[in-house]
Amino acid sequence: MELMEAMKQRHSVRSYKACKLDDNVKESLQKKIREINEKSGLHFQLIADEPKAFDSFMAHYGKFSGVTNYIALVGKKGADLEEKCGYYGEELVLYAQQLGLNTCWVAMTYSKVPGTFQVDDGEKLTVVISVGYGETQGVVHKSKPADKVCKTNGEMPEWFKNGVEAALLAPTAMNQQKFLFTLEGKQVAAKAGMGFYTKLDLGIVKYHFEVGAGIENFSWK
Ligand SMILES: Cc1cc2nc3c(=O)[nH]c(=O)nc-3n(C[C@H](O)[C@H](O)[C@H](O)COP(=O)(O)O)c2cc1C
Repeated sequence: MELMEAMKQRHSVRSYKACKLDDNVKESLQKKIREINEKSGLHFQLIADEPKAFDSFMAHYGKFSGVTNYIALVGKKGADLEEKCGYYGEELVLYAQQLGLNTCWVAMTYSKVPGTFQVDDGEKLTVVISVGYGETQGVVHKSKPADKVCKTNGEMPEWFKNGVEAALLAPTAMNQQKFLFTLEGKQVAAKAGMGFYTKLDLGIVKYHFEVGAGIENFSWK
């Protein structure tokens, strides 16, 4: 499955089937996590067969069920940690989709279970991503119109339009879609709006934009 197709098929899934990750699938996911950690310096970790984090009142209130696998997005504290976790976390989410898995970004409705993942000195956990075989494939989210999330001076090139459309397919916290892409010559500026988790969202939508627009067509400002 191409990345563009994976972006269209991905929706948040909060109910999962009670079965373990297939061994090969799990190994592929682990390998991708190692690759991402190597290139980004982040410390993402897969926690498999661990039902406690999503077994609280909060998790059920948040409509999660059957979650036994999740990825902890951990990295060195710093001004760019959230955006980096968003960017590389979404690379992982789309890869999981290509492997036939479903996911959901989770900032709130889970508990930190001691001994499950490692947060070294100077590091921080940002959010987690649940992963597994969904009971359903989720549903398409409501979306803002493109002109509310982008600005151009003059005509909009096709690649820019494709980038914005891809960004609108991305998951954002509470589906807030608080981001703005501005075209300035061959450069694109991406800005996060005000609100919770908007820096994480920015990393996520920048990954989508690159896939949709084609990274060869522009550079980030
Ligand atoms: C940074 C971030 C945090 C999120 N936190 C939660 C959460 O705590 N609980 C939850 O149910 N969904 C959470 N979501 C999922 C969003 O609600 C979901 O992505 C959004 O409604 C769009 O729907 P979609 O993912 O199906 O396209 C989060 C998404 C992001 C990007």
